[in-house]
Amino acid sequence: MLSDSERALLELRLDPMPPSLPSQPCLPGTFQRIISVITSWLLEGEHQIFWLNGVAGSGKSTVASTIWEKSGEMGDRVRRGAFISFNRSEAESSNPRKAIATLAYQFSFLDDRIGAAIVNVLKAHPNIVERSLPEQFSRLIVGPLESIPGLERSGRIAAVLDGLDECSGSGEERQELLCVLSRGFGANLQFTKLLVTSRWEPDIEAAFNPETSILVCSKDLSYRSADDNVRRYIEYELADIGREDAIFHQQYQKIDAAARLT
Ligand SMILES: Nc1ncnc2c1ncn2[C@@H]1O[C@H](COP(=O)(O)OP(=O)(O)O)[C@@H](O)[C@H]1O
Ligand SMILES: [Mg+2]
Repeated sequence: MLSDSERALLELRLDPMPPSLPSQPCLPGTFQRIISVITSWLLEGEHQIFWLNGVAGSGKSTVASTIWEKSGEMGDRVRRGAFISFNRSEAESSNPRKAIATLAYQFSFLDDRIGAAIVNVLKAHPNIVERSLPEQFSRLIVGPLESIPGLERSGRIAAVLDGLDECSGSGEERQELLCVLSRGFGANLQFTKLLVTSRWEPDIEAAFNPETSILVCSKDLSYRSADDNVRRYIEYELADIGREDAIFHQQYQKIDAAARLT
């Protein structure tokens, strides 16, 4: 167990972004194909990074939140490391300079040994968050994770960065962050997996190399099921009304209203 003062040190020195709550997960039965592709990658995939891109409103945050929720139910196969949702309308939540320290902060809760290793880094390098992002990544994340013998045996570690396109800052800072993330966690931490979602943007695409990353456009995995998503949404809403009105419930089932509306 980390002591209160160690926890306070982590909070003070890492000064993480405000916690971002995952969005509402998918309605049951929607986005099945994309969820199953990402889940298989998380459980068995070799690539360290999965980049899901798609236009605004295509459901990326919904999918990211569903994966985050599911990864908390995978027993000892996957553990939840970090979830960051970038938000362009908040200075703190869109600052690339804060991303690595926030990842480290969240990883410190994953396992006390990791937390203790990060505390040691902060004691030895009190100003680490002012250093370059590659140095932060190496000292605050790769070093502590690599220092735990047999960490892999406790399961894969999932980190989710939702809405990376909303992480802006100066062009140089964003470039530096993309460059660090694109290298992944390194050969000794193959069991650490990074799911990134964002709109398609040229610098993000350029960063994620197909050799280390799986690149998927949400349209390719969910376009054909868009009608299916709409049908399920209508069914869900009709069932909600039907719970209070039995006659309505009978009627909409009889005429198969959801199918007729899609
Ligand atoms: N399958 C689904 N289940 C529940 N809500 C959905 C689903 N698909 C889309 N939505 C809703 O659509 C909106 C846009 O989805 P969102 O995940 O925020 O898109 P993006 O992150 O790609 O901009 C949200 O309000 C979300 O709740
Ligand atoms: Mg989003």
